[in-house]
Amino acid sequence: MQIINDPAEMQKIAEKLRLQHQYIGVVMTMGALHEGHLSLVKLAKAHAGTVIMTIFVNPTQFGPDEDFHRYPRPFEQDAALARSAGVDYLFAPSTEAMYPDGYSTAIDPGPIATRFEGASRPGHFSGVATVVVKLLGITRPHLAVFGEKDVQQLTIIRRVVADLNIAVTILGAPVTRESDGLATSSRNIYLSSNERQQATVLYRAIGHAKMEIDKGRADLEAIAAEADALVRSEPDAEPDYLCFVDDATFEPVTQAVTGKACRLVMAVRIGNTRLIDNWRFECP
Ligand code: PAF
Repeated sequence: MQIINDPAEMQKIAEKLRLQHQYIGVVMTMGALHEGHLSLVKLAKAHAGTVIMTIFVNPTQFGPDEDFHRYPRPFEQDAALARSAGVDYLFAPSTEAMYPDGYSTAIDPGPIATRFEGASRPGHFSGVATVVVKLLGITRPHLAVFGEKDVQQLTIIRRVVADLNIAVTILGAPVTRESDGLATSSRNIYLSSNERQQATVLYRAIGHAKMEIDKGRADLEAIAAEADALVRSEPDAEPDYLCFVDDATFEPVTQAVTGKACRLVMAVRIGNTRLIDNWRFECP
C-alpha cells in the first residue's frame, strides 16, 4: 500500500491507473477506522481492481462547537488496518493541501441538506458535499462506496453527483453493528461504559418500530412517538430527532403507504456523544 499526502501526486497516479484501464474504487473516511469502514473496503474490492482510501478530518463539515479538535486521529493504526484490508493507495492530505490560501468554493446541496442532520448541524452537508467532490476530483474513481449509517449524507452525495454530472457510481453499504445492535461508529469510543449500555436504546427503538410495522400498523407518527419515549426512558439519552421519512426524498412521513419504502432516522445524544442510526422499511 502506498501512502500519498499530495493531492497533485494522487491525481497523477489516478490518471495513470485510468490510462492502464484500472477500475478504481474509493472509500472516503475521516480515519479512526472500525469494522464499518473495513466493510466499505470489502465492498469496494468486490467491484474494483484498485482501491483508494482517503483519510481526511474535514474541518468544513464541523460546527464551531463540535468535536473537530478532539476527533480521534490514530494514523499509524489506521494505515495498518487499511493495509491489511487490501487498500492499494492511502491518500491522507493535510488541511493546508486541501484548503490552501485563497480557497473559496463551497457546494450548496439545497433543501435536503437543511433537514435532520442539516438542521442540527448547519453547514455540515455543504462541507461534506464540497470535500467529497474535491476527493472525487483528486482520486478520479469509477466507483465510490459510502455507508448507509450516514444515510442522509449518502442521499445528498447521490443528488450532488447526479446534479453536477459527475461520472462515478455511488454504492451504499449496509450498516455494520456490534453484537448488541449498536451501529459501529468512530464516536462510540467517547461513551463511558454506562453510556455504552444506554446507547443500545437506539437499536431497541428500531426493534420497537419493526415489531409495530410488522403487525401492520400504518400510523408512523405514533410509532415514532413510542420509539422516542423508549429512547427518553434512558437517563442520559436525549433524541435530537426521531422520525420516519420517505426513503427517496427524505421528506417526513406520518402514514405508511403500501408498497413504498420509508426509513426511521434518528440522532440521539447520550451524555456528550451524539449518535445516529436508521432503518429502512418496506411498508406492507
Ligand atoms: O462519512 C465521513 O466519514 C465523511 O463525512 C466523509 C464522507 C469522508 C467526508 O469527509
